[in-house]
Amino acid sequence: MSKQLFENLTYQQIPISMLVEDGIIKKIVPEETFSEEVELSELDNWVNFLGNKAIPSFVDMHAHFRDPGFTYKEDLESGMNAAMRGGFSTVCAMANTNPVIDNITLVENNNKRIKDLNLIDVLQVCAVTENFGDSLVDFESIKGTVPFFSNDGKNIDDEAIMREALRLSKELGFIVATHNEPEAETVIRDIGLLEEVGGNLHVCHVSKKDTIEAIIDAKKRGLNITCEVTPHHLYFSDLDYKVHPPFRSEEDRNSLIEALKDNYIDVISTDHAPHSAEDKLNGSPGLINFQSAYGSVNKVFNENGIPESRLTEMMSSKPAEILGLNSGILEEGRQANFNIVNPDEKWIFMEDDIVSKSKNTPFIGEELKGKVLAQILRGDIIYSE
Ligand code: DOR
Repeated sequence: MSKQLFENLTYQQIPISMLVEDGIIKKIVPEETFSEEVELSELDNWVNFLGNKAIPSFVDMHAHFRDPGFTYKEDLESGMNAAMRGGFSTVCAMANTNPVIDNITLVENNNKRIKDLNLIDVLQVCAVTENFGDSLVDFESIKGTVPFFSNDGKNIDDEAIMREALRLSKELGFIVATHNEPEAETVIRDIGLLEEVGGNLHVCHVSKKDTIEAIIDAKKRGLNITCEVTPHHLYFSDLDYKVHPPFRSEEDRNSLIEALKDNYIDVISTDHAPHSAEDKLNGSPGLINFQSAYGSVNKVFNENGIPESRLTEMMSSKPAEILGLNSGILEEGRQANFNIVNPDEKWIFMEDDIVSKSKNTPFIGEELKGKVLAQILRGDIIYSE
């Protein structure tokens, strides 16, 4: 059994100490230290954090690792290293690789490599349809091994296919996460289907006022729908930088912030989408996002008077809850996954900071607020500035 003691952390404004056994939080004690209670010779590690601030590690429901097939853009190892520095303990890897991840063998291949790399937790997503075409994948054999199913990167144009996917999501118990183009129209269609056949729908990267209004209405009517926004759509408006969905108007951006304040947006997901300089010049959409996510989101939240508890809810506890993970919140019995952060530190995001293989991001040169200084995963310090 491994045993670690983390003393002198500040969590939710309260000074705490934390005892971790085999990666699980065994005990959290406010104020006083464990030193008197715990046999120090039994400890594998004992760290005094000198009052530094802890927040749960982030859980990202949406990222692209490009592995297999496009590993010149990113691969599992480089993507995991970037996510680790950004404070993410757990990231869902989308299926738009080459080949498309659309069967259990491909899912298990990546899962084995993820396990061998042993850096952070990556959960491989499976496509909804074979090769993003017209035949549904074999949900039954795959559902227990993936966090959800998604054709992200591509819209599911065929209404009949989407209806059947949603119907099966209810029958078999899994989540379908959708990329929507055109955004509002497709989401409105899917809400109609959800009403018709039921199911579990998660709407990816919502960017427009019309879309969020439709989702708010669906939630008010009690439909089973969750949604996410990205850091970049909260941060920028009207920016000339290619990403799907595109940067929208200031009115759209404000509608997302208002919806978020009113608890209608469930999670913040990065949509980390690495591309080489050449691919970017040739029009590939997307931006890398792991290392700028906390500083950009925290800055937007500060500017809009949104409390930090909402940030940790949207970046940690809620995505963990949707994915059924025993993490995303610091309490006894949960995995000891947390970041040491300085929420007040202002810093310029520099190209040299980037550990992803690709450098495509409009955040270079931006002054962000809030920095991840270290990350602890199941009691081990996996990154420290
Ligand atoms: O900008 C984007 N890039 N949006 C997506 O949904 C897909 C992603 C990618 O895979 O490059």
